Amino acid sequence: MGLKRTIAAFGGLALLLGASVGCNAAWADSSTAADGKVASAGGPGEAAEGASDFAARGEQTCMRCHDKAPVTDILATPHAMKADPRTPFGKHACESCHGVSRDHYEAHPAEGQRRPSPAVVFKGEFASPVADRNAKCLACHQNGLRMNWQGSQHESNNIACNSCHTIHVQKDPVLVKQTQPDKCFTCHAEQQALTLQFSHHPIREGKVACSDCHNPHGSAGPDSLKKVRVTDTCYTCHADKRGPMLWEHQPVREDCTNCHNPHGSQNARLLKEKVPFLCLDCHAATNDMGGYGYKNSDVAAHSGNFYLSGDRSCLNCHSQIHGSNSPSGSTFFR
Ligand code: HEC
Ligand code: HEC
Ligand code: HEC
Ligand code: HEC
Ligand code: HEC
Ligand code: HEC
Ligand code: HEC
Ligand code: HEC
Ligand code: HEC
Ligand code: HEC
Repeated sequence: MGLKRTIAAFGGLALLLGASVGCNAAWADSSTAADGKVASAGGPGEAAEGASDFAARGEQTCMRCHDKAPVTDILATPHAMKADPRTPFGKHACESCHGVSRDHYEAHPAEGQRRPSPAVVFKGEFASPVADRNAKCLACHQNGLRMNWQGSQHESNNIACNSCHTIHVQKDPVLVKQTQPDKCFTCHAEQQALTLQFSHHPIREGKVACSDCHNPHGSAGPDSLKKVRVTDTCYTCHADKRGPMLWEHQPVREDCTNCHNPHGSQNARLLKEKVPFLCLDCHAATNDMGGYGYKNSDVAAHSGNFYLSGDRSCLNCHSQIHGSNSPSGSTFFR
């Protein structure tokens, strides 16, 4: 890298970050450089890494070599808000995540040798253990959505924060509805297949995201759902199904997945089975739920085969399947 280009890049950077830096200091990157930049105290992991071990010139130390995209794309993200003391750039810049890395940038490797890696590397051949990587992120992000990270499926399966998140990019794709599912599908082929089925939530159309129902950082609910109950998760968008209703259909109140597969189905309306089979699972006299009426009853309408036939079958008469508010709706006719 030529000195001229470095200085040009440097000037641009100083402008971007609003830092006032003399070009003559460009190579003076030891932590003792008296350039007036003082690392803010109270950052993560500083008990182990003394504050004075961090590069005094912050990101400028690193960017004299790492001056190209994608590394520099971080400058356009919330992480690079220097004026905000909560951010990496308000603390120890690159080293807030990559750790104290003096061995890396002060090395003078011989021809054909590589420099020792920074303390924490997030991807590639020299990637650090997942726990070390995640510890860096969690030092600032333990709260909020990540209250239940410890013990979550992703945490216990050794998934890294950066298996989903990309840091050196202007907009992290996993935070964008349209591009999020592709990230998830790299590991969740089964759900990907379901979203391709005839009936599906508009996930691949970019209107519903996995994170509308799930908190991928873990939750207090089942299957990392955002709410403690499945039904409550569904009510956030399908409020008309919430009730309470005058006449409740018990399985609806219990769990929408008694009848629906949220990710996709070959049957209309995300139903797990076609009607009448769906209904007969619970309503046949011989089923293991004891048989809730229907065959045992004297209902004239249930004689012959008409009541089983057609696309809508049972729904021809029992159309208010999620419950009814009509005084005469006890069997969900209206
Ligand atoms: C003097 C030039 C130079 C400086 C300064 C520098 N790096 Fe590097 N860095 C490199 C080179 C060259 C590589 C590629 C590895 C090699 O070939 O030695 C690299 C690789 C990396 C990698 C990839 C992991 C690896 O081991 O290959 C990361 C991450 C990294 N640097 C981060 C940083 C950070 C953070 C800083 C500032 C604290 C920094 N670098 C400062 C030259 C530099
Ligand atoms: C030094 C503290 C710090 C560290 C370390 C840190 N972050 Fe952040 N991060 C922040 C702050 C502050 C914000 C901005 C939050 C806000 O504006 O409310 C942020 C924002 C984010 C966002 C939202 C970005 C956006 O575009 O809205 C994501 C995702 C994120 N961080 C993930 C990570 C991951 C993954 C790591 C580890 C590789 C990490 N962070 C390390 C402090 C940190
Ligand atoms: C399985 C994928 C996945 C993993 C692993 C993951 N995240 Fe996220 N993260 C997401 C998604 C998706 C969102 C958007 C959530 C939303 O919009 O509700 C998000 C949002 C965020 C945000 C911005 C929203 C906020 O909370 O302010 C931060 C910060 C964040 N994650 C940090 C982390 C950290 C730290 C880790 C590791 C401990 C991590 N994430 C692991 C998928 C993941
Ligand atoms: C918020 C945490 C965070 C900060 C701050 C950060 N990085 Fe990174 N860095 C990462 C993550 C995570 C990756 C993995 C690729 C990605 O997500 O973009 C990475 C990847 C890299 C790589 C490429 C390694 C490879 O093999 O692909 C280099 C080089 C690098 N960072 C240098 C820097 C430099 C220089 C700075 C400061 C200007 C910096 N990083 C600031 C988290 C961070
Ligand atoms: C790097 C691979 C990977 C990525 C990427 C990933 N997951 Fe996972 N996920 C797993 C593993 C492993 C499990 C553990 C269960 C299993 O093996 O299916 C899991 C489990 C889950 C579970 C079940 C959680 C529970 O508490 O039972 C949900 C929900 C989930 N992931 C959602 C997501 C979403 C949403 C995304 C994208 C934002 C995502 N995952 C991205 C690997 C991944
Ligand atoms: C409309 C809400 C909703 C959306 C959107 C959604 N899920 Fe789910 N997901 C659920 C529910 C409810 C469960 C509970 C188990 C079940 O019946 O499938 C679940 C379960 C899971 C599980 C656990 C395994 C299983 O099937 O039981 C994984 C993994 C998962 N979802 C991944 C994803 C991924 C990846 C996306 C995005 C492509 C996604 N989900 C989108 C509601 C949703
Ligand atoms: C983020 C909002 C959101 C959440 C949460 C949500 N849905 Fe949906 N749901 C939608 C949208 C959008 C549609 C498509 C509506 C349309 O196409 O008119 C839909 C459609 C449906 C359909 C009809 C599908 C069809 O093929 O006609 C069913 C059934 C359904 N959702 C069930 C559920 C269940 C069960 C849950 C909880 C596990 C749930 N939804 C959670 C937004 C949501
Ligand atoms: C007992 C089985 C069953 C349960 C449980 C159930 N549904 Fe349904 N749902 C159906 C049937 C059958 C249809 C198709 C109705 C039709 O075509 O007239 C349907 C259709 C839907 C539709 C699309 C048409 C409409 O009415 O808006 C949505 C949305 C929906 N259900 C949401 C939910 C939610 C949310 C829950 C949980 C609170 C739930 N369902 C529980 C059987 C059920
Ligand atoms: C997961 C099991 C399950 C499924 C699937 C199911 N039901 Fe039910 N249904 C019940 C239970 C439990 C009751 C309450 C029975 C009671 O109170 O004795 C009930 C009650 C009813 C009632 C009112 C009975 C009465 O005596 O007032 C009707 C009508 C009914 N269901 C029709 C249907 C239809 C039509 C379908 C298919 C679209 C269906 N059910 C699917 C479990 C189910
Ligand atoms: C032609 C209209 C019609 C069709 C189609 C129909 N039913 Fe009914 N069903 C009735 C009538 C009428 C009653 C009695 C209502 C009352 O007494 O208020 C009834 C009552 C019920 C009851 C209440 C229990 C009982 O025996 O009194 C259940 C459960 C039930 N039906 C389930 C089903 C199922 C499951 C299907 C599809 C396999 C179905 N019905 C198809 C008209 C129909």
